[in-house]
Amino acid sequence: MTETIKLSVFRYDPEKGGKPSMQAYEVPFSGAGMKLLDALNYIKWHLDGTLTYRRSCGEGVCGSDGLNINGVNGLACITPIAGLKQPIHVRPLPSMEVIRDLVVDMDHFFDQYRQIKPWLQTYSPAPEHERLQSPEERAELDGAYECIMCGCCTTSCPSWWWNGDRFLGPATLLQADRWIKDSRDEATGERLDQLEDAFKLYRCHQIMNCMEACPKGLNPTKAINHIKRTLLNRKS
Ligand code: SF4
Ligand code: SF4
Ligand code: FES
Repeated sequence: MTETIKLSVFRYDPEKGGKPSMQAYEVPFSGAGMKLLDALNYIKWHLDGTLTYRRSCGEGVCGSDGLNINGVNGLACITPIAGLKQPIHVRPLPSMEVIRDLVVDMDHFFDQYRQIKPWLQTYSPAPEHERLQSPEERAELDGAYECIMCGCCTTSCPSWWWNGDRFLGPATLLQADRWIKDSRDEATGERLDQLEDAFKLYRCHQIMNCMEACPKGLNPTKAINHIKRTLLNRKS
């Protein structure tokens, strides 16, 4: 007999009206390598083509399938199904507006990301070749460049739930720190000026949900603390 996996999946179609609900499904277990995304794909391809969710790479790289899985944020494509308590409760990322089923509106999240100007800013004349970094300077970006902007950290942050209109949230602040630390960037002062704000940065109260939620093992709290320290040192 084939072993089956039980899931309870959030469903909501605003076009049809009505209330959101949880729908039960059972899918065959395909072995130790099976990930949650495989179960969602099975539902969509074999049981219910109306189930809507985002995914692309299937390898933990694109950041599009961030979900709330048994109450914890994570990426469906790299979450092994075998270790999950059943029925597996699959919901959209918390505190986000649901477009349909598991798809949430990420516009505000990416608007905040754009606010920190996540690109290299320079004022000095361009060198003949590339702008070089030493291996040590490059190593400063470890722990930040790996971020895939999946939103799992930001949507697990209580400060962002309550003040997400003004607090930039852990993902965007991790990226802000990435550019502050980049030895080639020449806009550090402006970047720090922009962040020195009671809401944008200082609404982080070190609850550390962000670190626990990150499927890439990154530590946004550490990055936020680094920005705060850099601002303090600049004053003294
Ligand atoms: S440490 Fe800061 S950013 Fe991370 S979850 Fe807590 S309040 Fe949010
Ligand atoms: S820090 Fe981690 S959880 Fe947050 S957006 Fe980046 S990869 Fe996702
Ligand atoms: S599908 Fe790309 S990170 Fe999961």
